[in-house]
Amino acid sequence: MGKASRDKRDIYYRKAKEEGWRARSAFKLLQIDEEFNIFEGVKRVVDLCAAPGSWSQVLSRKLYLPATLSSDSKDDDLPLIVAIDLQPMAPIEGVIQVQGDITNARTAEVVIKHFDGCKADLVVCDGAPDVTGLHDMDEFVQSQLILAGLTIVTHILKNGGKFIAKIFRGKDTSLLYCQLKLFFTQVTLAKPKSSRNSSIEAFAVCENYSPPEGFNEKDLHRLLEKVGTPSGTGHDLDCSSGWLEGANKVYIPFLACGDLSGYDSDRSYPLPKSTDGSSYKSLDPVQPPIDPPYKRALEIKKASNHASLNPPILH
Ligand SMILES: C[S@@+](CC[C@H](N)C(=O)[O-])C[C@H]1O[C@@H](n2cnc3c(N)ncnc32)[C@H](O)[C@@H]1O
Repeated sequence: MGKASRDKRDIYYRKAKEEGWRARSAFKLLQIDEEFNIFEGVKRVVDLCAAPGSWSQVLSRKLYLPATLSSDSKDDDLPLIVAIDLQPMAPIEGVIQVQGDITNARTAEVVIKHFDGCKADLVVCDGAPDVTGLHDMDEFVQSQLILAGLTIVTHILKNGGKFIAKIFRGKDTSLLYCQLKLFFTQVTLAKPKSSRNSSIEAFAVCENYSPPEGFNEKDLHRLLEKVGTPSGTGHDLDCSSGWLEGANKVYIPFLACGDLSGYDSDRSYPLPKSTDGSSYKSLDPVQPPIDPPYKRALEIKKASNHASLNPPILH
């Protein structure tokens, strides 16, 4: 798809470039905030799976930059934003970057060190594995990222804090919902207007972190495994697939969010005319990835194109 054609078919892609966001995903977090007010009172945040950085940009613009403008804020009083990804990210003002795998305990330790004994008010996770198109497989790998996120949450989130995580809706969504409900009093699945209807993506908005009494972080996996077994955890939520019908059915709160009369991510919009009558010029992406995993593939492709255009001269 050419750039102008993508600008036409994907209004959020075009708007992201116009407003200086590195990715269209920025609108998803902004629309979740419109509905849930997730930034209220927030001073310390962890952005998991952050590259290329549009959510970190939102955090910087909503939390860090306004604080730098406030006359009474001192350096040690500024919001703390720590962003982690496997991929390196170009710098963003007020965002500390950690390159690492969130499923690795050492990454979690580095994040915890940055908080220096303090707790976070908010953890966001927009992690996504390379999608295979096999829904069960994609949903499973996605759920592993959420569990890694939840592990970090249990170490770093303050009581009453919030966790926002991308999920793929599928047959295990109820199980995941129940697992999250063990730790948060309020869990809602949100579908921002900028997330396409055709995509199984949604966001778990988990509010009011309150782990079970006596909870020890080391017991997380044992506790999660217990959810969904008929013996259960003592909670009245039982989410294994066989228990999802009749009186035991778990109803998951699901909410569309963002201005519902606003842009529809599944519609094409005409390209704007320039004021001087010249034809439409597509903007370049705000910040292309600095070291994407597909870089090597592009180099190989370029080299093979070059070789086919310049065949060796045989003597
Ligand atoms: C959809 S992108 C995130 C977009 C980002 N929120 C933004 O607004 O720019 C998903 C990211 O998850 C990262 N990711 C996937 N698995 C990861 C892992 N195990 N540890 C850290 N990052 C991971 C990928 O490298 C990718 O950058």
